[in-house]
Amino acid sequence: MLRGLEFAPGDSVIEYGPGTGSFTKAIVERMRAVPNVHYLGIERDPGFCNVLRERFPDLIFENGQVEDVEKLIKMHGLRKPIAVISGLPLVVMPSAGSIIKTVSKILADGGSFRTFSYVHAYPTPGAGRLRALMREAFPKFEISPFVIRNMPPAMVLKGFKAGG
Ligand SMILES: C[S@@+](CC[C@H](N)C(=O)[O-])C[C@H]1O[C@@H](n2cnc3c(N)ncnc32)[C@H](O)[C@@H]1O
Repeated sequence: MLRGLEFAPGDSVIEYGPGTGSFTKAIVERMRAVPNVHYLGIERDPGFCNVLRERFPDLIFENGQVEDVEKLIKMHGLRKPIAVISGLPLVVMPSAGSIIKTVSKILADGGSFRTFSYVHAYPTPGAGRLRALMREAFPKFEISPFVIRNMPPAMVLKGFKAGG
C-alpha cells in the first residue's frame, strides 16, 4: 500500500478506516524516518478508535465518518495530505464515488490515494466501478500486481493528483 510513498518534513497523511491498525503500523514506520509528519486517522467504530489510541498514543484518531474529512482537516489545522490511505471496503460502498471525488479535491498536488481490491472480486461490478471511479478522478491511475502474501490476495489501486 505504501510502496514509493515518501514523506517530507511538514507533510500530512490521512488514513481512512484504520480498523485495528495494520496499515497504521506501516505508516508510522515511514513517519519515523522524517521529522514533523502529521497523521489523522478517521475511524467510525468507537471500539477500534480506543484500540488505535492505545496502540499509537502519539497519533490523532477521530471517531467519525470519512465523509466529514474536509471539516476534520479544518478542525485539526492540517495541511493538504500528501497521501490518503484507505482501508475502507470501497468496492461495496454506495458512497465510493463521492468519497473518491472528495479525496481528489483535498490531496496536495502530486499526492496519492491508495486503496485495495481483492483479487477474487476483480470481475465483480463493484470492483469494476471502483477502478472506473479512480480512473475518472485522477489523471494518473495505477494497479499493482497481485499481492499474494495478503490473505485473501489483493491488488493496490493508486490514484495520483497532478502537480507536485
Ligand atoms: C476492512 S476494515 C480496515 C482494516 C484495517 N486495515 C485493519 O488493519 O484493521 C474497514 C474499516 O473502515 C471503517 N469504516 C467503514 N466505513 C467508514 C466510514 N464511512 N468512515 C470511517 N470509517 C469507516 C470500519 O469501521 C472498519 O474499521
